[in-house]
Amino acid sequence: MKILVTGGAGYIGSHTCVELLNGGHEVIVVDNLSNSSKESLNRVVQITGKRLDFYNVDIRNAYAMNKIFAENKIDWVIHFAGLKAVGESCAKPVEYYDNNLGGTLVLLQAMRAHGCKRIVFSSSATVYGDPEVLPLTEECKTGGTTNPYGTSKYFQEIMLGDVYKADNEWSVVLLRYFNPVGAHESGLIGEDPKGIPNNLTPYIAKVAIGELKEIGVFGNDYPTPDGTGVRDYIHVVDLAKGHVAAIEKIADSGVYTYNLGTGIGCSVLDVVHAFEKACGRQLPYVIKPRRAGDIAACYADASKAERELGWHAELGIDEMCASLWRWQQMNPEGYNKK
Ligand code: NAD
Ligand code: UFG
Repeated sequence: MKILVTGGAGYIGSHTCVELLNGGHEVIVVDNLSNSSKESLNRVVQITGKRLDFYNVDIRNAYAMNKIFAENKIDWVIHFAGLKAVGESCAKPVEYYDNNLGGTLVLLQAMRAHGCKRIVFSSSATVYGDPEVLPLTEECKTGGTTNPYGTSKYFQEIMLGDVYKADNEWSVVLLRYFNPVGAHESGLIGEDPKGIPNNLTPYIAKVAIGELKEIGVFGNDYPTPDGTGVRDYIHVVDLAKGHVAAIEKIADSGVYTYNLGTGIGCSVLDVVHAFEKACGRQLPYVIKPRRAGDIAACYADASKAERELGWHAELGIDEMCASLWRWQQMNPEGYNKK
């Protein structure tokens, strides 16, 4: 099938391009490179030995998006493009709503104009807000998001549901990611955050390589087994394969929602210790106050994806840390410098 991947040069997008190409699909990437580098796509080609088409385009550019749909008969859109930093979204809500909601609206208009009615959307466990019960099933309440980033994901889910209500020929797949981490086993593609990382695993990797002094553990007084925050970390390659499973399995129209996680909760200290195993040394950490807006624990019931898509996560926290460490060592300064 011919797949348009918005945001395909980014972290999850590039890993998904690899799995799509390996699965025999044709890939067209649209990315404005606002949070990525074209080099990631060169690496995708290097890993797979296959070619892809790339458009350096902002998805809010209606003229350019319509041209892409006019030039290509696209079977599915996998829609990753968006801004994703929680903290930044609180400081720049207008930019976040403009990019995330505005981008999705232009994309949907272009799809509709060219009769392309199949979309997989990158949603997030953040749409569940502070969980009332764990593990989270797809039926759990959504909303109650606490930042513009999360709210933009929640709104986009609603927008996509309304598109289906108005035209039952659409296939809308909402994939709610838990915490994607790790890198491709080749060490050639991975997460390349700008500046000091906000997320746990890239921060740990930078401490391990000596770029940052010590890990800050945000709170050890949560009602969790060791008091630190618990999350469902999922290997980015497993996550990428979940997208391929969705487009290959879903044949009928409808709105389909799936949690993509492992179902296993790991604490911050579990992750630190797994990374210590991967890099072969103890890593310095200090306990800090809780980070504003954080929840105690969040993990998935991922059985619906297993039942309906035949997909489940295969890799565990040790493989996530080992692959991230390989990527970090092979690319100490990310994609831009060698
Ligand atoms: P990323 O920033 O690495 O990738 C997003 C890509 O979209 C980047 O390459 C960026 O340049 C591009 N982009 C942004 N705005 C664009 C626009 N207007 N036009 C064209 N391209 C644009 O992020 P990621 O971690 O790969 O996340 C991919 C998607 O998954 C995002 O929608 C994100 O919100 C969602 N998600 C990520 C996580 C996570 O923890 N990484 C968790 C849940 C959901
Ligand atoms: N943490 C630390 N120290 C750090 C960074 C994080 O202790 O330096 C802790 C946090 O307090 C939390 C856990 O590590 O308990 C994970 O934090 P991350 O920032 O890595 O991830 P979050 O769970 O906060 O959020 C991530 C993405 C969101 C997404 C969510 C669910 O950043 O965009 O997963 O998918 F919505």
